[in-house]
Amino acid sequence: MKKLELSQLDLLLVHWPSEAHFFDTWRAFERLYDEKLVRAIGVSNFQIEHLEKIATKVHIIPAVNQIGIHPYLTQYPLKKYLNDHHIAVEAWSSLGRGDVLKDETSEEIAKRYNKSIAQVILRWHLQQAAIIIPKSSTPSRIEQNADIYDFSLSESDMKKIDGVNKDRRRGPDPDEVYPTI
Ligand SMILES: NC(=O)c1ccc[n+]([C@@H]2O[C@H](COP(=O)([O-])OP(=O)(O)OC[C@H]3O[C@@H](n4cnc5c(N)ncnc54)[C@H](OP(=O)(O)O)[C@@H]3O)[C@@H](O)[C@H]2O)c1
Repeated sequence: MKKLELSQLDLLLVHWPSEAHFFDTWRAFERLYDEKLVRAIGVSNFQIEHLEKIATKVHIIPAVNQIGIHPYLTQYPLKKYLNDHHIAVEAWSSLGRGDVLKDETSEEIAKRYNKSIAQVILRWHLQQAAIIIPKSSTPSRIEQNADIYDFSLSESDMKKIDGVNKDRRRGPDPDEVYPTI
């Protein structure tokens, strides 16, 4: 925080549901929250079983779970759990790290709305109330990714994008790397 020249962070996330210090890490986060050094604490890459496990001992439920989500990895069961437990869904890999940007279904939809495939996919996330953090090092793409508030996908187009799911991850599976359960 000294390096960031900040006295308070908006949000601090546990990056991975690692077996080592599973509860200790969260207790430390709760302390930072109680001391008002952070405004919110959350987790990342947690599956339902990790969230159930942490709920058995904590006094603050994670505000956010940042998980890999994109049209080839829709994660609907986990998203339903998060919605039911009032944990905000944040999508990393919201553009599948580029993987979904050649998808034919999204391309056909993008042409009809006169938008790019990236804009259509980001809109698909937003219409499900997911927080998005698309990454680009290209200024024109950063502008394009922010320009998604002047159109809305129809329910049938949302369903078409849902239909391309392949349960395909763009990173390691939290159930296989440092499993906690
Ligand atoms: N919690 C975790 O475990 C975790 C893991 C990985 C990443 N993250 C975070 O998630 C955030 C998002 O990064 P990500 O790696 O998941 O990738 P992403 O946002 O899904 O995709 C980034 C890629 O898409 C390209 N791109 C972005 N906008 C585009 C557009 N409009 N048209 C065409 N291509 C476009 C970028 O290329 P250019 O840069 O060349 O434009 C880059 O190659 C980052 O802040 C990262 O730190 C979190």
